[in-house]
Amino acid sequence: AIDIKSLRPRTGMITLDPGYKNTGSCESAITFLDGEKGILRYRGYAIEELAEKADFLEVAYLLIFGELPNTEQLKSFHRDIKDESHIDEEMKKILDGFPKSAHPMGVLSSLTSALIAFNPSSVNVTSEKEMYWAIVRILAKFPVLVAWTLRKKKGLPLDYGDDTLGYVENIHKMMFKKPNHAYESNKVVIEALDKLLILHADHEQNCSTSTVRITGSSHAGLFVSLSAGISALWGPLHGGANQAVLEMLEAIEKDGGDTKRYMAKAKDKNDPFRLMGFGHRVYKNFDPRAKIIKKAADQVLDDLGIDDPILDIAKGLEKEALEDQYFVDRKLYPNVDFYSGIIYRALGIPTDMFTVMFAMGRLPGWIANWREMRLRNEPIGRPRQVYIGENLRSFVPVGKR
Ligand code: ACO
Repeated sequence: AIDIKSLRPRTGMITLDPGYKNTGSCESAITFLDGEKGILRYRGYAIEELAEKADFLEVAYLLIFGELPNTEQLKSFHRDIKDESHIDEEMKKILDGFPKSAHPMGVLSSLTSALIAFNPSSVNVTSEKEMYWAIVRILAKFPVLVAWTLRKKKGLPLDYGDDTLGYVENIHKMMFKKPNHAYESNKVVIEALDKLLILHADHEQNCSTSTVRITGSSHAGLFVSLSAGISALWGPLHGGANQAVLEMLEAIEKDGGDTKRYMAKAKDKNDPFRLMGFGHRVYKNFDPRAKIIKKAADQVLDDLGIDDPILDIAKGLEKEALEDQYFVDRKLYPNVDFYSGIIYRALGIPTDMFTVMFAMGRLPGWIANWREMRLRNEPIGRPRQVYIGENLRSFVPVGKR
């Protein structure tokens, strides 16, 4: 490992790398990604194996603390999360201040920041013990905020969790329990949610994770750093792509299903249209998560007995893109979000909540990166620039300009 303290800022030469396409911002032991070979591993474990055999809470523990938990560790982690899931009633007033039309990502980013006011002991955390409790608190409270946001949109009364349920099942209950009805669990739905959350749980130094690390590097607390990450994830070139993909597939369907016309639009440099859900900054081969999600989409729709024409359009676009020279030359393959929206839709999650589901999955990855950065005592993130503006000039009074 590099001795961070030995790296002194240099004056004179600056490397210019817009979009940080080839710049490593840190050393990390969390996630391994080989974009050429299409490999993704969390703490050394293949994503394929974790998606098949682990549950989301185990993966969260693995990412954050470095090892898979044993039975006792998992039990006590889950118990601590359950104990910290209450949210101050005053937070409901903040939620009520938002119009129903507010985008859930904006609401959640604000609520996550607002949590600080009610959990002051989670702000300036430095010891591992203080960090642990701040981490437990946000893993406990964030799903409650997500569920509140969804229920407010739907005009449903807020629902409280159930301590007897698993972490993901409880999220499902808080989001979807019908008023005056007993909660109906569904194994297929819970397993699909678990898988989706695991697949989204970390992806090294992407836009939102870098945002979390750089925000936290100023020693801003965990919750605000996560709130910054939520905002970064919202954009359609990043996590917002899952919403954009579904809207695109719906538009193509409404328009008669002519995928060839949309392929032509995507290749036309005078047309701003891009094939959403295609391409990736790092993967220049199949996104391994997309392979798993495509299979899961088929299975979930089958198990739930849903025949969604949008899935056919997605498969049609994928087939055409794989045979198209433009996409082949640029190594543009479906990414994680090309098929995820189809599953979310089948699970009854509204389109503008898709990116929120992504945020819930990415939470452990953001937390793991924040914790690693703080424990390694990384310096404040502060990139340089190459100035291309005016040389020195004299001030002209307003009346003479
Ligand atoms: N449709 C059509 N053309 C594309 C697409 C696309 N989806 N993606 C890239 N290209 C083209 C670009 O126009 C460019 O062509 P050129 O070389 O002729 O100029 C070339 O491929 C390289 O693209 P860049 O934008 O330079 O690649 P970059 O690494 O900067 O961007 C990104 C990656 C943002 C993911 C891009 O592929 C994209 O916009 N995809 C659609 C949005 C999306 O799905 N985002 C989710 C990413 S995954 C995630 O964040 C969870």
